[in-house]
Formats: sequence, C-alpha cells, structure tokens
Amino acid sequence: MNKETQWVKKVFAEKFGYNKDWIVIRSPGRVNLIGEHTDYNEGFVLPAAIDKAIVFVIAPRVDGCCRFYAADIDENYECHRGLLQKSAQGWPNYLLGVIDQFQKAGHEIGGCDLVFGGDIPIGAGLSSSAAIEAGFAFGLNELFDFKIDRVRLVKLAQKAENEFVGVQCGIMDQFISIFGEERKVLRLDCRSLEYEYVPFERDDIRTVLCDTQVRRALASSEYNVRRRECELAINTLRRFDNNLKSLRDVSLDFLMNHKKDLEPVLYNRCEYVIRENARVLQACEDLKQNDFRSFGERMYESHQGLRDGYEVSSPELDLLVELASATGGVLGARMMGAGFGGCTINLVEESHVERFSETIQRQYREKTGQDIKVYITSIQSGTKKVVEEQIHV
Ligand code: GLA
Repeated sequence: MNKETQWVKKVFAEKFGYNKDWIVIRSPGRVNLIGEHTDYNEGFVLPAAIDKAIVFVIAPRVDGCCRFYAADIDENYECHRGLLQKSAQGWPNYLLGVIDQFQKAGHEIGGCDLVFGGDIPIGAGLSSSAAIEAGFAFGLNELFDFKIDRVRLVKLAQKAENEFVGVQCGIMDQFISIFGEERKVLRLDCRSLEYEYVPFERDDIRTVLCDTQVRRALASSEYNVRRRECELAINTLRRFDNNLKSLRDVSLDFLMNHKKDLEPVLYNRCEYVIRENARVLQACEDLKQNDFRSFGERMYESHQGLRDGYEVSSPELDLLVELASATGGVLGARMMGAGFGGCTINLVEESHVERFSETIQRQYREKTGQDIKVYITSIQSGTKKVVEEQIHV
C-alpha cells in the first residue's frame, strides 16, 4: 500500500481513533498538455491525472458535526453541517463548498471526521484544490451512498469552487481528477462534456514539470478578469451574429472581420482562444499519428499565445520555456494552468531527462538567483476508493 495512504490512516487513528467504517479515497492532481483557458469558453482541453495525489480518510457521523484535519499543515477545523460559513483559514472552504453543494442538491450528509494529506504542491497549478473538491465529493457520495453519477459529482465539485471559494474556474480540473485514466490523456469538449481518451504512452518520452515556486494571488483575480473579458467580447460579437453563444462558435475569419469592433485587448484574447481550440484538435491528431515532434511544436505555440495574446504568463515562466527550448531532447514546453506562476510542462525524451533537470535548474539559478523544483510525472488513474485487504494502522 502507498506510503501516503498508510500515513494518513495512522494520523486519523491518532486524531479521531480507529473507525471501522472509514473509507480511503485517493484523488490526483493533473497536468494539461494543451488547451489552456479554453474550458470556460466551451472549448477543448487535453488534461491527464498524475501520480501526485491527496489521500482522504473519512468516517461518517450522525450528529451533523464535521471535523477536518489537514495533516500536512497540522490544522483543524470543526463546524456543523447546518452552519457553513466561509473560513479565513482558506483550505476548509474547498470542503465546506462541497458539503454546501450536496445540501443544495438535497443530499443531507450526517456529518464526518476527515483527515487528508498528500504530495500535490499547493499553488503550483497542479490543481490541488480540484483534487480536494473532487476527492471529498467522491468520498461523501461513497460514504452516504447517494448514488450520484460521476458527471454530476464533477459539476458539484466545480460549483463548490465557484460559489463557496469564489474562483470562477471552468470544469477541466474537477473533470480530469475524477475521469483520469492511466497512460491516457483526455480530450474533453467542455460544451457537450463528450470525451475521448487518447493514448499517451511512449516509454521514451516523459512529462516533466518545472515549478517556479512563485505563487501569485493574481492568479485568481486575473483569472476572473479573463473570464469577464471573454464574456464582454462574445456579447459584442453577438450583435453581428445572434447565434454566437461562446467563443467556441467564433471562427478566425469572423473575428478578423470584426477586428475594428473590439477593443485591441479583447481581440487578442479571442484570437488566442480560437487558435488554442484548433491546436487541441490538431494535437490529438498528432498523438494518433504518434507524432510527438509536431505535438511539441504546438505546445510552444500555445505558450506564445498565452504570453502575448492572453497575457497570463510571467517572466519566470517565459524564462523556463526559453531555457527548455534551447536544451537537447526537449520536444515542447509551455506554461500550464491559470498562469502568473506555478509550473511549466515539458515533453522530454527519456534519455535526456536527467541532463534536462540538471541543466534547467542550474541555468535558472544562474539567471535569477532562485531555485526551481523539477517533478517527473507519470499519468495515472483518476479519483478512486482505495480498497484495502487488511487495515494496518
Ligand atoms: C485553472 C482552472 C481551469 C482552467 C485553467 C486554465 O486551472 O481551474 O478551469 O480554466 O485554469 O486553462
């Protein structure tokens, strides 16, 4: 059994006492190969769940009381399910938001004791928050046998973040946390929620993340600004075609014909989104053709668009992509997630991974005086219940 799982169970037993009814849930973080800031524009994304995860041990209660313990940071939180209030501690809100959504959907939870912890770096753009929301939603569904299907669980977890935490995130992170599959990326149509698994299983190519360790509050405030900009743009464009529902419906030709009708900033945002959607579809074709070189080129193009058109990159992320592109064995690199800080994602030939990690860390330190962290990831399955043959505590 996994080390984290053992540890979280042990902490639970010490904190709340051994409980024969507890269940263990493992909920992963994610990478996104391509398709950034497209989900809330009803476009396409290509994420995958990874080998970094949050483990939950949850036991039911009947008195409505909810007791949480965040093992990694040694913090407690306690409340009653009938009195959910936003917490200044931050992390409880991801859990409270989920309870809130269950209750709004008419599923009354009896209460619970919960310990969670894991190895997804916080704020690195690997969706630790979605892993908490999706994992807890999945866990409550199991614990109280609500029989909610997986798509509804995803939507519920996303709404928890939108309404309780206050970040207007799209559906990608919660979706992949629950739907991820080993050695496959998921092409998701964020409008219809139709999805397809695309094999991503070349043993000679690795997905390597470079973490700037820069965590900027800007990420959530500017994120909401980008969403509003896209809405504003579509509202303007709709004056010329009433059938347009989102940027998904806008062609590049149509956009170009209406360049004069949009503020330059809004035009740039739209152009990026339209081109990025097309890139996701082309990138899936590349994968089907086993053409990772072409796939990598599209990652570089995506980064350029995020940097110049969508303006969500940062000097640190740009530097990492520039350094990666000049390093041998790198097929593609770009910033990943909401932006402004966090990680870049790099496709690196297996035989070059060690040299790549060493070189990029050294060069980044020489240029900035700062250290980055490098994570070599693998693609794993989504949120699931950990079935134990024997309980060791
Ligand atoms: C964050 C959001 C996602 C998505 C990405 C950008 O991770 O949670 O919904 O919008 O940013 O692609």
